[in-house]
Amino acid sequence: PVALILVAVLGYLLGSIPFGIVIARLFGLGDLRQIGSGNIGATNVLRTGNKLAAFLTLIGDAGKGGAAVLIARFLIGEDAAQVAGFFAFLGHCFPVFLRFKGGKGVATWLGTMLALSFPLGLAACGAWLVTAVIFRISSLSALVAAALSPMVALLLGKGSLTFLAAALAVLIFYRHKANITRILKGEEPKIGKKE
Ligand code: G3P
Repeated sequence: PVALILVAVLGYLLGSIPFGIVIARLFGLGDLRQIGSGNIGATNVLRTGNKLAAFLTLIGDAGKGGAAVLIARFLIGEDAAQVAGFFAFLGHCFPVFLRFKGGKGVATWLGTMLALSFPLGLAACGAWLVTAVIFRISSLSALVAAALSPMVALLLGKGSLTFLAAALAVLIFYRHKANITRILKGEEPKIGKKE
């Protein structure tokens, strides 16, 4: 249990690193929280028009989720890997470095899923991409991918991951409350639309 707590703390601290905020600042794009949706993720970085900064944010936020999983798996094992991934996601959404006001967790979730089960992660990325190509709305793509992920996990025969995927899907929906309202009103902006 002590090892699991340490892994949870490590995952949480890694997840708390707000790559969007850091990269936007390094690129001189200002404070993300004053831009677009105010969110700290890659989708909102893209609203500044800087594709490289958005891409690096995606890689950083996904990478920290993946790293948390891989480190925990290497040190302890598969249960620890799931705990670390879950806490990395929580870290991104409620980061200690931003007074617990963080992002929506989508990139971190994708990185976590890819590291926990590559087929499940690929399916989540695929669902996101297909939805994005059709509707060009980032939040909707995340909601579709998240909703499908527990079913995909079940189909892949990943018992314990099914539960984790379901819990994360609920949290992703919860973090997208404002987006869901805008989607239903037809007011959610398309991917890459500038301020
Ligand atoms: O990854 C977050 C995305 O699903 C929505 O971001 O900035 O459009 O609220 P945003």
